[in-house]
Amino acid sequence: MTESSIAFIGGGNMATCLIQGLLAKGHSRQSIRVSDINADACKRIEDMYQVAAISDNVAVSKDADVIVLAVKPQILLAVVKDLAPQLTSPSVIVSIAAGIPVKQIVKCLGKNASIVRAMPNTPAMVMSGATGLYANVNVLSAQKATIEKIFGAVGYTCWVEDESHIDLITAVSGSAPAYFLLIFEIMQNVAKELGLPVEMALDLITQTALGTAELAQSSSLNMHELRRQVTSPGGTTEAAVKTFQDRGIEDLFRKAMANAVRRSREISHDYSA
Ligand SMILES: NC(=O)c1ccc[n+]([C@@H]2O[C@H](COP(=O)([O-])OP(=O)(O)OC[C@H]3O[C@@H](n4cnc5c(N)ncnc54)[C@H](OP(=O)(O)O)[C@@H]3O)[C@@H](O)[C@H]2O)c1
Repeated sequence: MTESSIAFIGGGNMATCLIQGLLAKGHSRQSIRVSDINADACKRIEDMYQVAAISDNVAVSKDADVIVLAVKPQILLAVVKDLAPQLTSPSVIVSIAAGIPVKQIVKCLGKNASIVRAMPNTPAMVMSGATGLYANVNVLSAQKATIEKIFGAVGYTCWVEDESHIDLITAVSGSAPAYFLLIFEIMQNVAKELGLPVEMALDLITQTALGTAELAQSSSLNMHELRRQVTSPGGTTEAAVKTFQDRGIEDLFRKAMANAVRRSREISHDYSA
């Protein structure tokens, strides 16, 4: 089977992660092309990955099997409009822009366009990302398999049947690295106030987070049961957990994640075609 040719439009953080993952999984350099408006970004990509990078979105996407739109949401539709005249039906367009629905891209490309919406997250930088994917009806199963390979190269993937679930995934995993980092930052600051060296606190916190995630993934117990297991009545963990619960941690998370979903839906109205 011939290797799919992949064009990245926008060579920033997310595109770089995906290119790095693809190369690590053995995808050939010759099958990857990048276009970025910024000449420095092109040079950085060429130097780091020996992948062709130029500032010409139309030339780079010509005849590509997969075109990954890795630009900011506010310019995505302008980029799509520029590409529209030369796009051929076998290409599948993958948008990773937060909040831009498939129907907005269809408005620029027509109803026959094959479009995938992806919601990756930043742990993709260390090949431990999590990506939610949605495909419109025109995307063939072979194309879905190719898309799965691209995002699978940098971590876990899952498909959703209902596009509105991408807004939910944005709140659950797309934005979630920042939730965990906020918690790490607070814990590190408090550990320092309590008297631990900052570096040691960071090592302890991040190792504990890694280990807890691994435990949660590998255990047959659910989250509640696992937590009960480490919470002895009258012990230290119970004292801390009770403080979180008495101060309404669950309600806080419910509100925060609902706000992320709301914002994801609002963005689609902010940047309509
Ligand atoms: N980072 C995340 O956590 C994350 C998670 C999920 C989804 N996403 C989505 O991923 C997309 C890309 O994010 P990112 O963090 O990779 O952004 P980024 O680092 O800013 O990369 C975007 C790149 O595209 C370039 N660019 C701007 N206009 C262009 C144009 N017309 N044609 C070609 N290239 C152009 C930018 O150049 P300039 O810098 O010169 O403008 C920049 O190098 C966004 O839509 C974001 O919503 C990001």
